[in-house]
Amino acid sequence: MAQTSQPGVNHPKPRFGKMPYWVEPVFTLIAFSGFVIYALWEVLFHNTGTYHNYVSPFFSPDIAGWLGVHILTALYVAWMPFVFRFSCYYYRKEYYRAFTFHPFGCAVPEPKSHQTRPYKGEWKINNLHRYTWFLAVFVLIFLWKDVVQAFIFPNGFGVGVGSLILLVNAILLTGYTFSCHAWRNMIGGRKDCFSCTAHGKKPVSYGIWRRVSALNVFHGWWAWASMFSVWIADLYVRLLIMGVIHDVRLF
Ligand code: FES
Repeated sequence: MAQTSQPGVNHPKPRFGKMPYWVEPVFTLIAFSGFVIYALWEVLFHNTGTYHNYVSPFFSPDIAGWLGVHILTALYVAWMPFVFRFSCYYYRKEYYRAFTFHPFGCAVPEPKSHQTRPYKGEWKINNLHRYTWFLAVFVLIFLWKDVVQAFIFPNGFGVGVGSLILLVNAILLTGYTFSCHAWRNMIGGRKDCFSCTAHGKKPVSYGIWRRVSALNVFHGWWAWASMFSVWIADLYVRLLIMGVIHDVRLF
């Protein structure tokens, strides 16, 4: 018999892989809350995120500097990747489950209050997400500039632990941004027959769409990996600025 999400029905226990269904939302609740609290501390209590040739991803590009502002400088940047991540299709699924139980998991009945209050905001957030994708790409260009800068020391080219952390962070953020569902839709979602040949050739955009689709399969992985890499990259630069740790030059 088909499963139903009606309350009071005896459901088989839904599973996430081999784990109980509640592991994923609980992980999201802890990881996402931790990241947001850390980000607020970083953005609201610090005015600079630069240590020599290393720049924290929270502070790049230096929009506040361009405007001649010297306090709460990360605020001018952080809202762009934050809105992009907050409106991400994948994260929305995750935090609806973790924070609002809407639903808690596949085939898990929702609380009664949600069954009488259907959610209608989805298409607005999807549109917002499409626009913020361009902001995310704008920020990403500067993060790659910072990666180049992170390998240039006063005595020339070099590699420090910080250089590698910022490099990995930029790679993971690039994977996250270009595995985006909205980007995949922009590349191919508006065509009637995407793989149809034009004069015996498949369109170039078809090849791009197939590559984006291959990345898109792992979008959830890119989402979490890039969130933790931003967290680690910023924390590393912050601890250097505070003098808690010293950068290690590998060569
Ligand atoms: Fe997740 Fe676009 S759907 S970044």
